[in-house]
Order: sequence, then structure tokens, then C-alpha cells
Amino acid sequence: MFGPLLRGEKVTLRPARENDAERFVRWFADTEVTRFLARRMAISLEQEKEFLKNIGESKDDVWWVIEADGNAIGATGIHRINWLDANGTTGIVIGDKASWGKGYATEAMQIRTRYAFRELNLHKLITEVDTENEASRKALERNGYRTVGVRREHAEQMPLDRRQADVATVARGGASGEIDRQVADLDDAGRVSLIEL
Ligand SMILES: CC(C)(COP(=O)(O)OP(=O)(O)OC[C@H]1O[C@@H](n2cnc3c(N)ncnc32)[C@H](O)[C@@H]1OP(=O)(O)O)[C@@H](O)C(=O)NCCC(=O)NCCS
Repeated sequence: MFGPLLRGEKVTLRPARENDAERFVRWFADTEVTRFLARRMAISLEQEKEFLKNIGESKDDVWWVIEADGNAIGATGIHRINWLDANGTTGIVIGDKASWGKGYATEAMQIRTRYAFRELNLHKLITEVDTENEASRKALERNGYRTVGVRREHAEQMPLDRRQADVATVARGGASGEIDRQVADLDDAGRVSLIEL
């Protein structure tokens, strides 16, 4: 599904449009953009159009294009939504590098978080972030995500220099938007544990 139009002060989250695909092809060919992403291979225009079609039809993804000053600069989404357990996994990319460091990701996450808790009635949001991805970690923390575990040397799909990177699992929980005192998650050994925040 594409999420509805949501306006913030700096950014707007909007549904995808036909001509968005080209930008993503350009962004995903840039290793600086994909450095910390799970997907680090370039994508063809056809593949990107297929991705947009599939995500628009998906029942367990809510996805938006992020716009600033009327231009598409990236995308964000809530994925693998489990409607029964009321949780989902979030992700973001600001593909337009000229737009980095302007607070756009922080605000996009804020809008996304509010929508997830207030409109979708989700109870917990989870994501994974390379421990060295400082910008993403800070933006997540500003939005109430807290590290609930670190998988050491987990980023095995990364390019050689990142292959042994640590990956933090961060979560934000609570139907009211407040952080839960306890969040269930995986520990280093992959077991489910309860971690007090
Ligand atoms: C990570 C990313 C989403 C950050 O987006 P952004 O719009 O530049 O982030 P913001 O401007 O909202 O900044 C967030 C915080 O990081 C800080 N920051 C920004 N760029 C930084 C950098 N290069 N190094 C360290 N901190 C940085 C900001 O000062 C801000 O911190 P503050 O709230 O304490 O001031 C963006 O760089 C990106 O899409 N990168 C490629 C894909 C990616 O890594 N996605 C996330 C995967 S988990």
C-alpha cells in the first residue's frame, strides 16, 4: 500500500507516482547511498517499476516517497507489518545526497511514527541499523527508538570493508507512542529476550 499524503514542516510523505522510478534507479547506483543498506546492488528501471507496483499492491507494507520543496528526495516505509501482533519494520533512504543533514529523515520518521501508532494502531516498530550509521541512529533515537540488542559482526552481506559491521536492532513500542518498559527482541545469539528500556 502507499501511505496517504502527510505534510510536515520540512517534508511531505506522499504516494508514489509513475515517474518516480527513474530517481530510484539513479540513487541505488550510488554506493554512498547504499553503503549502509541491505540492498546494495543497482536496480534497473524495469525492476524499480515492478518494485513500485508490488509495494503499492502489498497488504503488509505502507510506503511513501519523501518530498522536500516539491522534489522527491527519498522514500520511507513500514514493512512486514504483522497486523495481529501490531508490529512492523521501518526503513528509510534519502537518495538525494544534497538533502542530507537538513533534518529531513528526522521529520520523515516522526511523521511515519505518528501515523504507525495513531492511524495503523501498531504497537511496536523495529529496524536494524549499522552501528556506524550515525545519522540514521540519531534520527531514530530522536524519534523514540532505543537499541535493544546488537548483532556483532552481523552485516555479512556488506562490501568487504563493512562485512563485519555490527548491526543494532532498534525498536519503538507502545500503543500510545510512549516507549514500552519492556521490548521483546532477539539477543546476540538470536534468542528472544526481554530487554528493559
Ligand atoms: C541516514 C539518512 C536517512 C539520514 O538522513 P538525513 O536527512 O541526512 O538525517 P537528518 O538530517 O535528519 O539528521 C539526523 C541526525 O544525524 C546527524 N547527522 C546528519 N548527517 C550526519 C553525518 N554524516 N554524520 C553524523 N551525524 C550526522 C544530524 O545532525 C542529526 O542529528 P541531531 O538530531 O543530533 O542534530 C540519510 O543519510 C540516508 O538516507 N543515507 C543512506 C541510506 C541509509 O543509510 N538509510 C538508513 C538505513 S538504517
